[in-house]
Amino acid sequence: MRPQITVLDAGGQYCHLIARKVRDLGVYAEVAPSETPASELAGRKGVIISGGPSSVYDPGSPTIDPRLLHSGIPVLGICYGQQLMAHILGGRVEKGDRGEYGFAQLDLTRSDGLSKGGTLFKGIAGRQQVWMSHRDAVQSPPPGFDVLGSTATCTVAAMASPQRGLYAVQFHPEVAHTLCGGQVLTNFVFGACGCVKDWDPAGQVQSVEDHIRAVAKDRNIFFFVSGGVDSTVAYTLCLRALGPERVHGTYVDTGLMREGETDFVRANFAALGARAFAVEDAARQFLGALASAVNPEDKRHLIGEEFVRVQQRILESEHFLDGHWILGQGTIYPDTIESGGTAKADLIKTHHNRVAGIQKLIDEGRIIEPLASFYKDEVRAIGRQLNVAPALLDRHPFPGPGLAIRCLCTTSDARVEKLSEGWLLPVQTVGVQGDSRTYRAVLAIEDFPDSEEEAPSLINKMDLINRVVVEVWTAEKLRNMQAVPGYLTAERLDRLRRADAVVRRLSAASGFDQMVWQFPVVLMPFGTPERPDSVVLRPIDSVDGMTASVVRMPKELLAAMVRELSAIPGVAGVFYDLTNKPPATIEWE
Ligand code: XMP
Repeated sequence: MRPQITVLDAGGQYCHLIARKVRDLGVYAEVAPSETPASELAGRKGVIISGGPSSVYDPGSPTIDPRLLHSGIPVLGICYGQQLMAHILGGRVEKGDRGEYGFAQLDLTRSDGLSKGGTLFKGIAGRQQVWMSHRDAVQSPPPGFDVLGSTATCTVAAMASPQRGLYAVQFHPEVAHTLCGGQVLTNFVFGACGCVKDWDPAGQVQSVEDHIRAVAKDRNIFFFVSGGVDSTVAYTLCLRALGPERVHGTYVDTGLMREGETDFVRANFAALGARAFAVEDAARQFLGALASAVNPEDKRHLIGEEFVRVQQRILESEHFLDGHWILGQGTIYPDTIESGGTAKADLIKTHHNRVAGIQKLIDEGRIIEPLASFYKDEVRAIGRQLNVAPALLDRHPFPGPGLAIRCLCTTSDARVEKLSEGWLLPVQTVGVQGDSRTYRAVLAIEDFPDSEEEAPSLINKMDLINRVVVEVWTAEKLRNMQAVPGYLTAERLDRLRRADAVVRRLSAASGFDQMVWQFPVVLMPFGTPERPDSVVLRPIDSVDGMTASVVRMPKELLAAMVRELSAIPGVAGVFYDLTNKPPATIEWE
């Protein structure tokens, strides 16, 4: 399908979110590399330039074909996209030494937005809450541009030259925290670009099934299913297209699963009518490979490599390589290399979908990815259409590397450190600030603060940390606790599995699981020699996982959790993560 809108990827983690938001408006959009020649964009109704981690002054920073800005196609620059537009057209971009991350109040220069801003702010009046994440800023707009709005720290928060169809905003209209963001995108897509609705993912089922038959020809399809939404829906589409005899699924039990997961997956596939379904127990192999891993990215790489080994072993032993089979995958659009989405993004998390072994199968053309042009919510819509169980479609997302990235490891036995702000824990976790990844310490405070601003202001103030937790319960005085060397052992994974099962059961029973988007339960190697680990609760709300905010749970529920968690052998403490994303990622690794 030909996109009406192309999102040029300037390296931001938000570029896919922009395309998804446009599709949510019923308009088909795709992502392309920022340097895509203007000639290849001819025929688009509009183009959006995404944000990104670079400065326009960095050597080699992403740019666009400048002819695009004179082509007559309406263009919307977002964040770095605005700075790039200003830079190319003769405005002035100022290099910032401090970032502005988080909420800001946007004052529109003209509340009607009409005479100056064309259609961009149509229907939006008064002060607006917007979400900012930037360092550099446009100081003066290019000749012929009007400033449409500003915030306390950003004089050019929006600008436009409507006669030329050029619009730009410093804030992120694509994230849910920008309350008028949907309207801004609607105004651009329909008002400025004149797009028409052409996109309904559930309506694509028939053509996807036709595509599967055309690619498979007389070959059968073999899947490694994870039990998650994507691989299950991809498998189901193939099952419908070719019939249950021709579609095989193997579920690899890595030993990094949650309690009860394997039975849940088995039951779901039985209900879908799968006949050829197998479970491969590879727990010993994975735990062996991960025995001395500590660093989060090492864990991901090792898991990716082990997956390839298991896959290769199964492919060979089951004769799936004999030419009668192709490999099916649940890859979705943001995971595809072709989309350019992760090509320039500063490393936030590595994906293991495209490890070398799989790449070889792709190169040989022996692969089918029925969901490669869909986003997650679109996959869910297709799943509903196919009667996949709501318990599977609607459950919280769970990361591919499983409990491995929720079971923190360390070689250190460092002690806690008392600071005036709280206790500095000898534990490091991953964060994301201004599109870049950080790996910093955790600060523990003793009580839940009255103000939501407390945790962010501590992190803004202290370069050492990217996360703040509350000490909810500890078996010992915090000052006597320390890092306890620990790896991904069966014992520690069992401890985490039990803690996770307790939290899931109590969250579901109280209805709290409906109030959160995801609820990671993390085990950190922090305690005493007798009780070497602590449990961290991380309930968050999010729309898409790109940004997230902390959710507080009712006191009684927390007390019930602590009662059960503190009884798990080896657990020394229970902590509650108070950090939004950014600056901390949702997962701890
Ligand atoms: P972060 O931690 O980056 O997570 O804020 C955002 C969302 O992505 C999930 N996540 C992963 N999913 N493989 C996955 O399949 C991974 O390596 C991975 N790391 C994070 C995370 O659970 C959250 O929903």
